[in-house]
Amino acid sequence: MKTYRIEDKVFSEVLDAETIREAIRREAARIAVEYADRNPVFIVVLKGAMFFAIDLIREAGIPCSMEVLSAKSYGNAMQSSGEVSLSQVATHVGDRHVIVIEDIVDTGNTLQKILAVLAEHKPASLRVATLLSKPSMHKVKLDLHYCCFEIGPEFLIGYGLDFAEQGRELQSIYALNAALSAEQVG
Ligand code: PRP
Repeated sequence: MKTYRIEDKVFSEVLDAETIREAIRREAARIAVEYADRNPVFIVVLKGAMFFAIDLIREAGIPCSMEVLSAKSYGNAMQSSGEVSLSQVATHVGDRHVIVIEDIVDTGNTLQKILAVLAEHKPASLRVATLLSKPSMHKVKLDLHYCCFEIGPEFLIGYGLDFAEQGRELQSIYALNAALSAEQVG
């Protein structure tokens, strides 16, 4: 089993690069069909969703535009603080078909806030594409139109997801192996 360490924490691979690629191709193909003539605007939620967004948008391969939005709720902690801070959306989304791109929906607080802010601008349509969703952790009910993987409550890193800003560059996704410390792995 592939493992990765950050300080005293050991993470084990749970989704490899090929499995991630296949799931992205699947969801991108759906987007390509459903938005072929809609010139959607993708709103990428920084920083975690950067990697997923680039691969998803390129794979969809349809005329579109792209904006970024910065959301922060975790700081360096492993659990959401519950307080979500958002940057301004630097685009006009009124009458546009909007797809918000997230890396992970955990409690759903971040996404709920983002969707509420965007809805005020009266987009023509508003949907979500997420790489990962943790249904057992959701505190709000959200419609995730394009979702690559539903997963358990484990803390994950890799492919854009971080622990204290580390691990984003990994091509696979790794889960914190709570049973193992770095000393035990050797
Ligand atoms: C993560 C993730 C989502 C949010 C999900 O962002 O990218 O935006 O938390 O959690 P929630 O569903 O409980 O609200 P984070 O605050 O870690 O910022 P980052 O993307 O810059 O790492």
